This record gives sequence, structure tokens and C-alpha cells, in this order.
Amino acid sequence: MLENVVVAVTGAAQGIGRSIALKVASLGADVCLADINLDGAEAVADEIRDLGRNAMAVRVDVTDPTSTEDLMRSVTQNFGRLDVAVCNAGIVQVKPFFDITAEDWNRTMTVNGLGTFLTLQSAARVMREQTPLSPGRPSGKIINMASIAGRYGAGAMAPMTPHYRASKAAVISLTQTASFGLAPKITVNAVCPGIVDTDMWTQIDREWSEAEDLLPGEAWRSRTAAIPMGRPQTPTDVAEVVGFLCSSSSDYMTGQSINVDGGLFMS
Ligand SMILES: NC(=O)c1ccc[n+]([C@@H]2O[C@H](COP(=O)([O-])OP(=O)(O)OC[C@H]3O[C@@H](n4cnc5c(N)ncnc54)[C@H](O)[C@@H]3O)[C@@H](O)[C@H]2O)c1
Repeated sequence: MLENVVVAVTGAAQGIGRSIALKVASLGADVCLADINLDGAEAVADEIRDLGRNAMAVRVDVTDPTSTEDLMRSVTQNFGRLDVAVCNAGIVQVKPFFDITAEDWNRTMTVNGLGTFLTLQSAARVMREQTPLSPGRPSGKIINMASIAGRYGAGAMAPMTPHYRASKAAVISLTQTASFGLAPKITVNAVCPGIVDTDMWTQIDREWSEAEDLLPGEAWRSRTAAIPMGRPQTPTDVAEVVGFLCSSSSDYMTGQSINVDGGLFMS
């Protein structure tokens, strides 16, 4: 399904990014694992090579335009082209509303907002110059990692994550403006996960517990209890939808942000 397709994934050393890389590799893609944590990215690249697929690992800091340009150059030097960029790297912080500093705000917005923009921009520079894999198809696809947190501002955690929520709303907005600007050569879509069992949620649970004097695990239990599908989300739940967005089955979709959250938020 993804034979001859080259996919670059940022934030691929762990969590959702790792699952996406493994999924697209299992579908036949050549994969570039990009992360600020190069050792982690190398370890996932080894997992993919063990499956008999092609993988490379690159250190990237998505907040640095030189680094995102270097990343895309490495991908094309190694694999000859770049068909899909998954802009997945991100950070979170849970902190009482009145304790959030300008530095906290800027760091979150810089990694999640600017980082997504720079990765997208560097990828699009490559994609707009290349011919499509087959005539009539887009010459590239960009998939951004947003969040249902970017959709609404209510709920117990919302006042402790205004910077994270604003950054993910920015990703949803960027998905729309970039898709309009880059059509019809390049499609741009986003995925909005809900509550995914990764290190990020371990951090959320810890910071939320500290802020509200909860028992460890209590925030996770109360939030996941509200999921209509009756279980926490796995990274694979996200990767399955990204696999579809990487494929030719989604060629006519652009500018969309898709909730993949077990029914937590419906829009
Ligand atoms: N876990 C969730 O519940 C959840 C829900 C909705 C959206 N998301 C989003 O999904 C994405 C992945 O989340 P996750 O849960 O796998 O998180 P994670 O913390 O497990 O992994 C994030 C990865 O991003 C990398 N990274 C951080 N800053 C970077 C930078 N400047 N440059 C390059 N890489 C950098 C980290 O090294 C790490 O490997 C994030 O954008 C997150 O906001 C997660």
C-alpha cells in the first residue's frame, strides 16, 4: 500500500511518532525517524530494519529552521524523494493558570506551533519541486499532529493548559491555511488525538496531580473514564488513521483536522 513512498516523521523516538513510523513501515514505506533524541530515533530505526524495511534516523530540533531544512535534505539524499511529512513532535505542560510564565507560553508555542510550521515549510519546499509518484496525484502530503485540546477550552484540565491548547489550535489553523496555499500539489491534513497512553500523559498525570493534590493516576483514571469507546487510546489508534492519510485513498482530502479520540469530542 505504501511501497516506494518515503515518509519522514518528527517526534519519532517514542509514543505516537514511533507507532506511526512502525505502521507506515509495515505498509511498505521507507521511513526517516527524526527527533531531538537521536538515540531514541536510532532505536526505532533498528526496530524497522528488523522488519526488513528501510529506515534512517536524523536528529532534528523542529524549532530551528536550519535543522528542519537539513532534515529534508538528508531524506532526499538518502531516499531520493519525500512523499509524506508527519509533523508530530510536540510538548505539553500542565501548570496552574496564574503560575504560567511568558517563558512557559513561548516554549510551548515555539515547539508545537513554530516547530510544526517550520517542518511543514521545509517539507513543502521539497515536495513542490518533485513529480508525483503517479500522474494526477499530489506530489506530497503533510500530516500535522494537532489535538482535541485545540478544539475547545472547557473542562478540568483546560485552565492549566491554555498554552498547549492555543498551540494546538494554531496547528489546526495552519493546516487550513497551508492546505489552501499548497493545493493542488500538496495536501495538508491534521489528526486530533484524545487521551493517548504515552510518556506525555504520564507527565500530564504527574503535573496535574501536583497542581491539584490528587493521587498519582487519578487524573488519568478520571479522564479516561469519560471516553465513550470505553478504553484509553493507544498510539496505534492514531497511527492507523495516519496510515490512511499517507495513502492514495486520501488524495482528495485536504485542510481537514480529524478527531481520533474514541468519541470524547465530537465536531
Ligand atoms: N499523548 C496524548 O494524549 C496526545 C493527545 C493529543 C495530541 N498529542 C500530540 O501528539 C504528538 C506526540 O505526542 P506523544 O504523546 O507521542 O508525546 P511524547 O512526549 O511521548 O513524544 C514526543 C516526541 O517529540 C520529541 N520532541 C520534543 N521536542 C522536540 C523538538 N524540539 N524537536 C524534535 N523532536 C522533539 C520528543 O523527543 C519525543 O520523542 C505531540 O504533538 C502531542 O502534542 C498527544
